[in-house]
Amino acid sequence: MMSTIVSFPPDFVWGVSTSAYQIEGALQEDGRGPSIWDELAAIPGRIWNGDDAEVACDSYHRYEEDIALMKELGVKAYRFSVSWPRIYPQGDGPINPKGIEHYKRFVAKLLENGIEPFCTLYHWELPQALQEKGGWESRGTIDAFVRFAETMFREFDGMIKHWMTFNEPWCIAINGHLLGRHAPGIRSWPSALQVAHHVLVAHGLTVRKFRELGTQGQIGYAPDMYWYEPFSRKQDDVDAAYRAFSIYNWFVEPVFKGTYPDRMKAWFQTKGAEPDILPGDMELIAEPIDFLGLNFYGGNIVRSKPGNNYLDLEHVDLGYEKSDKGWFIFPEGLYLMLNWITDHYGSIPIYITENGACFNDEVVDGKVDDGRRIAFLQNHIAELGRAIESGVNLKGYLTWSLMDNFEWAFGYSCRFGLVHVDYRTLKRTPKESYYWYRKLIRKNWLEL
Ligand code: NOJ
Repeated sequence: MMSTIVSFPPDFVWGVSTSAYQIEGALQEDGRGPSIWDELAAIPGRIWNGDDAEVACDSYHRYEEDIALMKELGVKAYRFSVSWPRIYPQGDGPINPKGIEHYKRFVAKLLENGIEPFCTLYHWELPQALQEKGGWESRGTIDAFVRFAETMFREFDGMIKHWMTFNEPWCIAINGHLLGRHAPGIRSWPSALQVAHHVLVAHGLTVRKFRELGTQGQIGYAPDMYWYEPFSRKQDDVDAAYRAFSIYNWFVEPVFKGTYPDRMKAWFQTKGAEPDILPGDMELIAEPIDFLGLNFYGGNIVRSKPGNNYLDLEHVDLGYEKSDKGWFIFPEGLYLMLNWITDHYGSIPIYITENGACFNDEVVDGKVDDGRRIAFLQNHIAELGRAIESGVNLKGYLTWSLMDNFEWAFGYSCRFGLVHVDYRTLKRTPKESYYWYRKLIRKNWLEL
């Protein structure tokens, strides 16, 4: 049988991703203030099984062990987030030096081990004190965020060279403020839209601050994007896929073009939602960034069905495999998405800042045989090779996740890691996918 070799550029950045709240634990330690997720987790019924992140993977204490696992894996980069309430326990009050010291020790350890830190400033941990003043619905939160970002830029200048402002703004606005599944658990169309706008303004102001300070390195953000493939080439189906695409992926257009897509505006208008946009906001939002961080998890096939839901379409199940979270696995969507971004916004450098799947792996005789995760990785990474060949300016791939962790409202019920975590003992067990990825990184090519 003929095999195909997919090779990667020598400077291609292989990495892994996590976020603070999902792995750190130690929520009450070293002066950390409460966040909106602590608040949500305390409400019965909001998190699966009543789980919370008090301990999570205990990475706040075990980060040296985690970094050793990364070193052994051979990754060049680690994407993590900084917990805002560890730095500013009240959001906009006094700074907490212990928070800074913790991340200084941690980043120094990464650098010592030759691992490049990719830092996300906001991976959903809003200080609760700010929520009480209106949260992201209030412009005051924008100012507090920019202050926090400025502190981070000043303290870590020269240590951290890759920054991301926001992780998945769509989830912040929609999951947190429309569907109410995520903190702060609000269900309101106007609130979701106002929050979306303020988050984007905060992003733009932060990018501007980064430039003003002359911070070394690069800055971007990490939206989640989802591919919608038309069921057929018939114009109706193509239009239906485009409608779904433009609703789910509307957080890129404002950043690259300084406008909100018409379809998305119209959708919110039907719900009586119209955001307050101040003069100059759209220019701020479109402040040029250095790279795009793409979080990609899957896609869906859709066809036109007039009268069915607001979008006049339906999903078609063609038998694509689903992860244990029920998400459709659609590797070619990654190739299509990367090309779509390049066609629409030019040759911006792109890092895949998240891509992975939930499979409920178990340890059997000290081993975790997660063949489905290996297949997932292999199929997606093959698409990256194709994308690079087709001219996409792809710089790296940081898989989600280094280890199993607290999956927000799903608690500990979804395992996304290359490393299994036993939540009772906190023992880390590298899965077969970890060894597979290690081999890939060493070779820098993939055989199909
Ligand atoms: C998106 C989020 O950024 C991350 O926090 C989450 O765990 C993964 N995707 C998986 O759902």
